[in-house]
Amino acid sequence: MSAPKTIAPQSRARGCLELTGSYGFSKTVAAGFLACGARSGQVIGARRQRRVAQAPKLRFVTRVWRSESDEPAPARLTEVDDRLKADEALRRVKRGEYLLYTGDFHNARQLLQAMGRRLEAPSRAKSALQAFREERQARLLEHETLSRVVVSLDPDYRLGLRRAPDVRQACREVWGDSRGETTHVALKTLLGMIGAAQWRQKGLQVPGLKGTLRPHYGVFTPTRTEYVELLTHVPQPRLAGARVFDIGTGSGVLAFVLLQRGAASAVGTDLDPRAVECAQSNARALGLEKRFTAMETDLFPDGKADLVVCNPPWIPEPPKNRIDRAVYDEDGAMLRRFLTELPRHLTRGGEGLLLLSDLPVLLGLRPAEWLDAELASAGLTVAWKKSTSAHHTKAKVRLDQLHSTRAREVTTLYGLVPSRAGTAPGP
Ligand SMILES: C[S@@+](CC[C@H](N)C(=O)[O-])C[C@H]1O[C@@H](n2cnc3c(N)ncnc32)[C@H](O)[C@@H]1O
Repeated sequence: MSAPKTIAPQSRARGCLELTGSYGFSKTVAAGFLACGARSGQVIGARRQRRVAQAPKLRFVTRVWRSESDEPAPARLTEVDDRLKADEALRRVKRGEYLLYTGDFHNARQLLQAMGRRLEAPSRAKSALQAFREERQARLLEHETLSRVVVSLDPDYRLGLRRAPDVRQACREVWGDSRGETTHVALKTLLGMIGAAQWRQKGLQVPGLKGTLRPHYGVFTPTRTEYVELLTHVPQPRLAGARVFDIGTGSGVLAFVLLQRGAASAVGTDLDPRAVECAQSNARALGLEKRFTAMETDLFPDGKADLVVCNPPWIPEPPKNRIDRAVYDEDGAMLRRFLTELPRHLTRGGEGLLLLSDLPVLLGLRPAEWLDAELASAGLTVAWKKSTSAHHTKAKVRLDQLHSTRAREVTTLYGLVPSRAGTAPGP
């Protein structure tokens, strides 16, 4: 086994932590380097860098630590290979060690699966909310633990493991062109990126959408489709020639369905730059690019629209990392702001189209009357609504502790109008 490789953070770039590192650090030098202030995501000052660079036998190689879920950069990586057994690997990563896998790709994948099987399942919960939280916690812990098995990609994004697939395209799609550094990434993350690249190539059929949607890594994707289908109930006359805002556009799917059904133009906004890129590239692929613009904006773009659609993150719990932000909205803050600001972004006679699941109510995360109270305080009235029950896979998984709750889940499309405008014609 070679000497531990120690990497120390240099700077934070958008979506990743950038590190400089060096092979051949002795433990003492590494400890000194870290002690002189190098913590995850921190900038190491030029003087400090010079001091370390002047130390004998140190060769600086620029390395990048890529974490898609905000895990801090490992302070130290220890090389391991095919000889490592799952029990031993799990014991070491649970102790906080980061393992740099250098053996065979398929063995590495199997090692990860075997480690996953050895993790404790969540205990039997008393309530649906407890089951939900325990399942979430268990998944997070699994992710954190298994993400301590790391692989290295060369400056062309080549994975140096034996029998490794070509991962260059998958990496370019997520991170853009390589800037010539060595990349360290959790194997689990890389496997997810490989799967996402295959999915993107194959595309996804979404009921209600003509053509194929190409999901991008890390962007909310309509794998559950009942909420998209609800949009087919928006009356055609309301759509004809309408200007649309799609707030939290994700892949852009909702805007595309409305455009294909007769809306004139749509602006999709999202806080996540990957979503913006995903929506824009899907608009091009669907031939809608002249009528659709995606922008990185918090909630609303300037101006008003005839229809403002929004499928907000549904779960009013704190997001734990970047990827969570498409699904978790702490205390429903984003939804509240959407409702409060909606009236001033509607043209006269305009309408909001809000998609919402009752899962938070079923879980006991908010009372059933919550939405009515929020609508009243925002000065909005429900002009019409259309509901559908869940038919996503999770609802059918009988072993899922949350099965009975998820099977009862109802998703509703609310047509919202400013209260002073009275009721608009429904479907
Ligand atoms: C549940 S996903 C919906 C995506 C897409 N509209 C759909 O229905 O498939 C919620 C989206 O809202 C975005 N988002 C969350 N907070 C936001 C905000 N304050 N402004 C704009 N977008 C936001 C997330 O990044 C995510 O893409």
